[in-house]
Amino acid sequence: MKYNFDKAIDRCNTGSLKWDFCEKYLDADDVLPMWVADMDFQAPAPVIEAVKERAEHGVYGYAEESRSFYEAAAGWMERRHDWPVKTEWLQFCPGIVPAIHLLVQTFTRPGDQVIVQTPVYYPFFGAITTAGCHILNNPLKLENGHYSMDFDDLEKKAPQARMLILCSPHNPGGILWSREDLLQLGDICLKNDLLVISDEIHADLVLYRQKHWPFASLSEELAMNSITTVAPSKTFNLAGLQASYVITPNPDLAAAYRTALEKAAIARPNLFAIAASEAAYKYGEEWLDQLLAYLEETHRFVEEFIEKEIPKLGIIRAQASYLAWIDCRQLGFSPEGLKNFMLKEAGLGLNQGYIFGEGGEGFVRMNLGCPRALVARALEKLKRAVNSL
Ligand SMILES: Cc1ncc(COP(=O)(O)O)c(C=O)c1O
Repeated sequence: MKYNFDKAIDRCNTGSLKWDFCEKYLDADDVLPMWVADMDFQAPAPVIEAVKERAEHGVYGYAEESRSFYEAAAGWMERRHDWPVKTEWLQFCPGIVPAIHLLVQTFTRPGDQVIVQTPVYYPFFGAITTAGCHILNNPLKLENGHYSMDFDDLEKKAPQARMLILCSPHNPGGILWSREDLLQLGDICLKNDLLVISDEIHADLVLYRQKHWPFASLSEELAMNSITTVAPSKTFNLAGLQASYVITPNPDLAAAYRTALEKAAIARPNLFAIAASEAAYKYGEEWLDQLLAYLEETHRFVEEFIEKEIPKLGIIRAQASYLAWIDCRQLGFSPEGLKNFMLKEAGLGLNQGYIFGEGGEGFVRMNLGCPRALVARALEKLKRAVNSL
């Protein structure tokens, strides 16, 4: 089956956070919405069928994760990432953000320090502070358009911390960490008895046929000292159904997480989330491969456009996912000034870089998970605004 990612689908008035709530969250309602990280594409046909089948059944009683759901998820990890996970290592969660909140609350004590590597997915900060912990930053280094981890700084800070939240692949920037990066990070964490939460939600969206290395797959020791969070939500555009899961082969960590999930009373899954996720993992591969090819073309298009048409801006060459990380530092705006410029002059709803923490100032994140024609419109708006400065 050939999927058509150029097809425009109107999401207005569907309760879409990205399309219907710009006024509430961005304070602007006439912008092109290129912010919230979901895609404007329909899910794979087998997923739509599975959801329809549940919907038409008409009985929407309590659900439970079936064995076949876990088998489908485990099979996916082995097929796509060469990581033979056992089904009993997996536990459901309605979302990765709730899972990370629970994990921080479960495995730290108030006052502890938790390491993050900014600029990074900003809900990590809230998970740390609501648990009464402190954010300990190990900022990424940006040199010649490439991000890398600062291991010297990490060596210095690790002895003070209890946990590290890794983002792999990293959002923003779409950074793919190498096996060597992850082993070096893992080694520092083991030496300092730091538990690693490895958020791998973007793992399935690695571009150009490169390899994502699941952190826990690198060694037995790292597997026992980490909890991985993954989800079909980014991969297959199911975020509104709220399905994700955590993986750990460590029975003590797994049991503590289970207790936390039950205490928070969010262990029971959504009926549609289970049906959709299982279908996606079983039958979504063809769709995903076509999606990745489409996203690669879009990324190339955006990189070339910015290089040629808006030379005052820069772009980080993404290795994963559908989010462009655009360097606007040369424009010289303050964070508030850049936000206003993008909303009012360019007419674009973007994520502002400063919310991702230190190192994010002067950047914006543009969501490319939509038909290329929409991306082209956004770039034209950006070009007009920047070139008229
Ligand atoms: C790194 C990362 N983790 C988690 C999430 C969201 O996860 P969920 O919707 O399952 O809470 C996102 C969404 O953009 C993300 O980029």
